[in-house]
Amino acid sequence: MRIITILNHKGGVGKTTFTGSIAQALALVGYRVLVIDNDSQHNLTAMFDVGVQNPNIRDAYKEANRSKAMAVFLKTIRKTEIANLHIITSSSSLCESDILDVLFLKKSISACNLEKFYDYILIDNAPGMDRLQAVSIYAADEIFVPVELKQFAIDGIVEMDKIIKHRFPESSGISKIIPNFYKNIQRHNTFLAALNKLFPGKITETAIPNDGVFDELITEGKILFLHRLYSKGAAFYLKIMHELFDLQEDQVWETMLEKRKTQLSIEARQRYYERQSKSSQ
Ligand SMILES: Nc1ncnc2c1ncn2[C@@H]1O[C@H](COP(=O)(O)OP(=O)(O)OP(=O)(O)O)[C@@H](O)[C@H]1O
Ligand SMILES: [Mg+2]
Repeated sequence: MRIITILNHKGGVGKTTFTGSIAQALALVGYRVLVIDNDSQHNLTAMFDVGVQNPNIRDAYKEANRSKAMAVFLKTIRKTEIANLHIITSSSSLCESDILDVLFLKKSISACNLEKFYDYILIDNAPGMDRLQAVSIYAADEIFVPVELKQFAIDGIVEMDKIIKHRFPESSGISKIIPNFYKNIQRHNTFLAALNKLFPGKITETAIPNDGVFDELITEGKILFLHRLYSKGAAFYLKIMHELFDLQEDQVWETMLEKRKTQLSIEARQRYYERQSKSSQ
């Protein structure tokens, strides 16, 4: 089992989009995936159309009694509409002071033997670098950092790298940096070259392009690989899945095509029955 936290103390860099998209891809090809929404904005929870549930991650963090906290933690795990993809939802009132033990997530994953049930645990974080993010850094084996190609964003990564090395000397540090919102323009290419110099071997070869498809999907409540498989965004996410998870692009594409066909026919059937029931009223 791989436990990956998706982190950047800067907001709006694509953490949730990245977590949700790689989780979908891994689950659709058959891996057992658990995503944890560690952000009071609960965007990941909304992405999978689950809605904030009770109990949620906040209830588990807040429970002082250790064995009760484990039981609450197990109860927070929910199914999503995608088979093999489970989620722990967040709460809008989640905040730093709810964290009674920064090692809670690490201990719970191990005590509940989650490695028997999941191939991947992916943790989406709120922007910032405080106790909430610390919980996920302690729990994770790897840290993935989506980044925008802007000067302040790059300065921010350098800063974050220092903080992680200083505050979490036992962690593996930043594992991968994923350029997001990429356009093939000189400014972006210059920032990419600078990042490669600062963090040799850590920048993914694939930069995720700027594509309006991600906003469309949020608005429509749809799934990238089922509803926009032919988009530029999906094509580059398949490339990044190959690079980061060794998934073979052509095999994944075939699997996605099949799933997409099934999904679209289910939706068409649903629309047909809805029309039928409306016309008979
Ligand atoms: N490659 C991309 N191209 C265009 N838009 C994108 C891309 N990736 C993400 N977005 C859009 O950018 C916005 C911010 O993305 P997202 O919510 O994933 O960022 P975040 O880092 O999780 O934000 P926060 O720090 O608030 O949690 C969203 O509207 C999303 O649809
Ligand atoms: Mg987010």
